[in-house]
Amino acid sequence: MSDFHNKTVYQIYPKSFLDTDGDGWGDLRGVLQKLDYLQELGVDYLWLTPFFVSPQNDNGYDVSDYRRIDPRYGTMEDFDRLLREAKARGIELMLDMVFNHTSTAHPWFQRALEGDPLYQSYYFFRPGKENGAAPTNWESKFGGSAWEYVPKLNQYYLHLFDRTQADLNWDNPEVRREMRDIVRFWMEKGVKGFRFDVVNLISKGAFNDDDQGDGRRFYTDGPRVHNYLQELNRETFGRDADILTVGEMSSTSMENCFRYAGEDSHELSMVFSFHHLKVDFMGNEKWVLVPADFGRLKKLLFSWQEGMAAHRAWNAVFWCNHDQPRVVSRFGSEEEYWKESAKMLASAIHCLRGTPYIYQGEELGMTNAGFTRLEQYRDVESLNHFQILRDKGMSEESAYQILKVHSRDNSRTPMQWEDAPHAGFTSGSPWIGVNPNYRRINAARQTAEPDSIFRHYQALIRLRKQYAVLAEGDFSPLTPQHPSVLAYCRHWKDETLICVNNFYRRPCSWTSPVSLEGFEVLLSNYPDIKPQDHLSLRPYESVILLHRSQ
Ligand code: GLC
Repeated sequence: MSDFHNKTVYQIYPKSFLDTDGDGWGDLRGVLQKLDYLQELGVDYLWLTPFFVSPQNDNGYDVSDYRRIDPRYGTMEDFDRLLREAKARGIELMLDMVFNHTSTAHPWFQRALEGDPLYQSYYFFRPGKENGAAPTNWESKFGGSAWEYVPKLNQYYLHLFDRTQADLNWDNPEVRREMRDIVRFWMEKGVKGFRFDVVNLISKGAFNDDDQGDGRRFYTDGPRVHNYLQELNRETFGRDADILTVGEMSSTSMENCFRYAGEDSHELSMVFSFHHLKVDFMGNEKWVLVPADFGRLKKLLFSWQEGMAAHRAWNAVFWCNHDQPRVVSRFGSEEEYWKESAKMLASAIHCLRGTPYIYQGEELGMTNAGFTRLEQYRDVESLNHFQILRDKGMSEESAYQILKVHSRDNSRTPMQWEDAPHAGFTSGSPWIGVNPNYRRINAARQTAEPDSIFRHYQALIRLRKQYAVLAEGDFSPLTPQHPSVLAYCRHWKDETLICVNNFYRRPCSWTSPVSLEGFEVLLSNYPDIKPQDHLSLRPYESVILLHRSQ
């Protein structure tokens, strides 16, 4: 299937999208109520993060029943109606399959704890070392050991994430059968998209101590991961040419992504990789404050664009999701030039080769949460790491500063619908605080304004359908050494598109390495730009140019 190349996916975090029953928690009816808004934006798929039955220790990424809807989100009737009404608007649903682990509240895990060997073989239960220590020194991604001891069984179980998220043993054919049955269950309902959570971690290698790192090299892009994905594809979604799939790839390598998302490899339609979103980390260490390295950002984006294209593999292109801080706060500006920078970032990512993903509120230029007190945070990862930083001796103030920049809660504050109490998100008390800037930044205002950020996203989605060069074109970097501009060229048949973006507040000049004669402006974020070979770019200025040879 390649007719998805001109499609755009919109990610919904239902818990923070719209609450219709006043419990402070978004729900499926909320999504239903906003379908017209989403249709107006023009998106083709809605990726909904998990709304299945779950203790919610990791906001639904700890599933205890993959076939039932958590009553706080609504009912199966609500879901069926949402699916139907979305389809009626030309929008398909993409569900989030959390298959690397289950919640420890899942009946399988509970039976394992009761001593049932069948269900113990669904997970990784291992004895401790001779001295009683955990089987390996691996660290959980949320901090602390990746092993939890169960005294009753005198065994540890593996959890790469929270201790209530136990890793599934995909080497067990029964586990793989269960996962296939779940995918089929949702396919039979008419679901046309699946996102697979941290799916490159499902095949574990040797359980050895890691003397170089946190253990990830033993399970990332593991030994049988490609076989398992091919099997899943063959037995489930691969049978329906209309189904779109995306795998979330944690710390992956490009070589593996050529296979995960290769045109002929029969694994997935595309991948999320995150290397370009670690340019403000110190290596893999996220809980530090370092300025974003623009040179590296460009290098990573360009090398993935070129590498994936050369191997006929497909990228998901994105800045934001529910695990990332808001992009306008991260690489743009929250105050002066807020609008210009949000539009520039949108153009820079949407014109790349791949399928663009928009995370709810990104189309409004929503900013980081701006929390100032620990009580405002909800995310297990943030709370754990705050404690870890404090235990290392860091002052409370410095630890807050880090959370303020890197916490996943930055993107989880409620959607800002209008200038009304709680931004129109709920009539009750929201589960997480609303960003006070909702009076200025909200959907009602932007859908009424002709030059809003919302309108800019709408235009980008439309352009992708209008010009085959955006969907199918090849990719080549332009002026890769320029210190402040990210520029590239796309080419397809008689169309050439050039996208030029000043990533800084500082004005700068840019000289095109190709003649811009005959190019027209498709979209920009300042009103009066003229295509010429020497451009003087204003703060965060961005322009998309097109040439068609007759
Ligand atoms: C993915 C999800 C994230 C979750 C983790 C564990 O990275 O996007 O939100 O915490 O997997 O399931």
